[in-house]
Amino acid sequence: MKLLFELSGEHPDLPLLELRSVVEALSGGAPSVTRDSSLAVVETQLDPSKIGERIALCHRVCEVLASGSLGSLADVAGGLDFGGSVAVRCRKVSRSREERCSEVERRFGDILAGSHPIDLVDPSRLVRIILGEESYLTVQRHEVDRRSFEKRKVALRPFFYPISLHPKFARLLVNMTGVGRGETLLDPFCGTGGVLIEAGLVGAVPVGSDLREDMVDGCKVNLARFDVEASLFQADVRELREHVQRVDAIATDPPYGRSTTLGGDISSLYSTSFEVFSDILAKGRSLSIIVPREELIALGKEHMDLEASHPLRVHRSLTRHFCLFRN
Ligand SMILES: C[S@@+](CC[C@H](N)C(=O)[O-])C[C@H]1O[C@@H](n2cnc3c(N)ncnc32)[C@H](O)[C@@H]1O
Repeated sequence: MKLLFELSGEHPDLPLLELRSVVEALSGGAPSVTRDSSLAVVETQLDPSKIGERIALCHRVCEVLASGSLGSLADVAGGLDFGGSVAVRCRKVSRSREERCSEVERRFGDILAGSHPIDLVDPSRLVRIILGEESYLTVQRHEVDRRSFEKRKVALRPFFYPISLHPKFARLLVNMTGVGRGETLLDPFCGTGGVLIEAGLVGAVPVGSDLREDMVDGCKVNLARFDVEASLFQADVRELREHVQRVDAIATDPPYGRSTTLGGDISSLYSTSFEVFSDILAKGRSLSIIVPREELIALGKEHMDLEASHPLRVHRSLTRHFCLFRN
């Protein structure tokens, strides 16, 4: 089966990195992925909802019925019989396309109306014609619930501190590691628990620590709000080996060295952290980490293989580099 993912626009590369990692984690093998504008087409036997419920940087998952010219899609559409009502939607994702979506919808609506009732409000199948560099005739299989991430925003959690990532980026960090259900994921700079909440929600076993006792206490309260169970403790990252022997994944957003308590200078904190992480992370497994300055990435390369790094500008004085390392 070919699935088409309508990726979101937060970043040119991170949505695809997240998708690859999730499909690999769920299927156990590297997927074959074709990119077209903000679309990704993946050959897989996975349940589309299993992927759609886990990823953050995506709008919809659709099953591809045909791709090619609009004329060839029209031929395929003429032979379809879903046995229920349909609605047709068209979306243009490539600027080079000149067709009007309303006209494409009318054309395919007329074709499908020959063998289906049309129901624009509550159709049993939503047929989506997607215009990328290629045209795709698809049926929507899952709509990503992006609003659920908004409901977990830091300001809406019982313990509030203005240091937390948006939940969609916390989910991205978790997903980048490819952690599976029942596997341990550590956040050793857990703060208010944003990453650990997302880890728990995807079925991983969260383990968290922070230098500050008040953060650990607040994190506990936040996790309880979302029914996430975790093992949490106070620790300086430098002493982590005394508390943790082996984890399956690490996803973390360390301090940026501006206002948070560090217990040392930022380069030495990152340097020690990478060394500790390579000791406690299972071999062959992944660390996803945000670093606030590009030169800090080299410190990680002394201990692990860098698989990807993508800058995401937040404002004039902060760019977050989302990095993926393999141990
Ligand atoms: C950017 S915040 C993490 C935000 C977190 N992702 C959240 O959702 O709230 C960094 C955290 O690192 C902690 N921290 C600073 N230095 C540390 C150290 N040496 N060891 C462990 N934690 C430390 C701070 O107390 C702070 O909570």
